Amino acid sequence: MMRWLGNVVGPIGRVVGVDRNTSHLRHLSDSRFQIIEGDFLEISLDAAFNLAHCRYVFIHNRGAAQMLTKLAQVLKPRGFLVVEEPDFTSAKLLNRRGDVSQQRVNNAICRMFEDRVLDPAHGLSLPEKVAAEGLDIVEC
Ligand SMILES: C[S@@+](CC[C@H](N)C(=O)[O-])C[C@H]1O[C@@H](n2cnc3c(N)ncnc32)[C@H](O)[C@@H]1O
Repeated sequence: MMRWLGNVVGPIGRVVGVDRNTSHLRHLSDSRFQIIEGDFLEISLDAAFNLAHCRYVFIHNRGAAQMLTKLAQVLKPRGFLVVEEPDFTSAKLLNRRGDVSQQRVNNAICRMFEDRVLDPAHGLSLPEKVAAEGLDIVEC
């Protein structure tokens, strides 16, 4: 995603990547990329962004509501937020209905999140949370 965004913004644009573990981002050494290692809720971002993107991150965080608020705050007016979050409670393998082993794996994933007091169906409640931030939903 960062590489793709880097191509979109071009040589004078800027793409900032944030992760607690940036080992998969370190190869992006071009000057358009800025890599910040740390907890998203603890770092400071001074820039106003045209686009913010986040995938499979909220579901791992009890502070997901604050993360969404902070993401919305770093956008420019009329900026776009793209959030991709799963719902493991309804995930199914394509063309393999009734696959028992797949269902066991999915159940184990759900239990892992629940044991950590996290919501395995986080994606289902995302639209209402995004709307509660005062953002217009363009597509869901
Ligand atoms: C399931 S991976 C998803 C990685 C990538 N976004 C993707 O879609 O392939 C979750 C990532 O979020 C990072 N992460 C989770 N909570 C975070 C937080 N509070 N602040 C920064 N990074 C976080 C983890 O270190 C991990 O790299």
